[in-house]
Amino acid sequence: MNDKLGQLWGIGVGPGDPELITVKALHCLQRCPVVAFPAGRHGRPGMAQTIVAPWLQPEQVQLPLWFPYVQDATTLETAWQAAATQVSEYLTQGQDVVFATEGDASFYSTFTYLAQAVQQQQPWAQIQTVPGVCSPLAAAAALGQPLTVQHQRLTILPVMHTLEALETALDQAEVVVLMKVAAVYAQVWQILQRRELLAQSRVVTHISGADQRIYDNLDNHPQLSLPYFSLLIVHCG
Ligand SMILES: C[S@@+](CC[C@H](N)C(=O)[O-])C[C@H]1O[C@@H](n2cnc3c(N)ncnc32)[C@H](O)[C@@H]1O
Repeated sequence: MNDKLGQLWGIGVGPGDPELITVKALHCLQRCPVVAFPAGRHGRPGMAQTIVAPWLQPEQVQLPLWFPYVQDATTLETAWQAAATQVSEYLTQGQDVVFATEGDASFYSTFTYLAQAVQQQQPWAQIQTVPGVCSPLAAAAALGQPLTVQHQRLTILPVMHTLEALETALDQAEVVVLMKVAAVYAQVWQILQRRELLAQSRVVTHISGADQRIYDNLDNHPQLSLPYFSLLIVHCG
């Protein structure tokens, strides 16, 4: 055990293109001896891991942390505490740990929960965040269209628990971003069709990655088999 605790950094590494990491995040990534990230699924590397891979040195320890995609609070809390314990082992040895998270580290990111659990386990640990390029902003760049202008109101729905939430958002905002849209795309399409908003709606998948795809004529796409990394932007008017 080292007297001095290591520090935990949460860095947003952007939406996919490794060049969309900020200079500050890159310096932090290359300085820390231990690099943690969410473990991938089905034997494939995760998104954050793939983004940082070109920047890592062979001597850096890579620490995949397992986070389940479930709603159950107990299962989630158990996973966050287990991940925090793994991180704490390095911190108590005086080693700094950087956690790479896709997009921005404060925007619907696992880092929030990991940081809370680490702080519970290591109340004296220093934890810092380095912001990153989040997916709605990267989507606007990919579409070549500003996300918002002048006095437009923006609503971001992280996940649609009810279709009512979308109806309310479309009533109240000029621009609506739907994250995690893949699972509910068919229902969303029906609502956009009824409101005659399909022409002003676009889906972007794997933004800024080599396999980025833009669907901009949604009239022709009542059904789409979309990946998890998909978001939909509606410019209502
Ligand atoms: C848990 S949230 C993570 C958000 C992330 N921290 C950010 O800053 O964008 C995951 C959702 O963000 C959106 N997303 C994140 N990265 C994306 C990308 N590269 N392409 C398309 N959608 C993305 C998708 O809607 C996905 O379901």
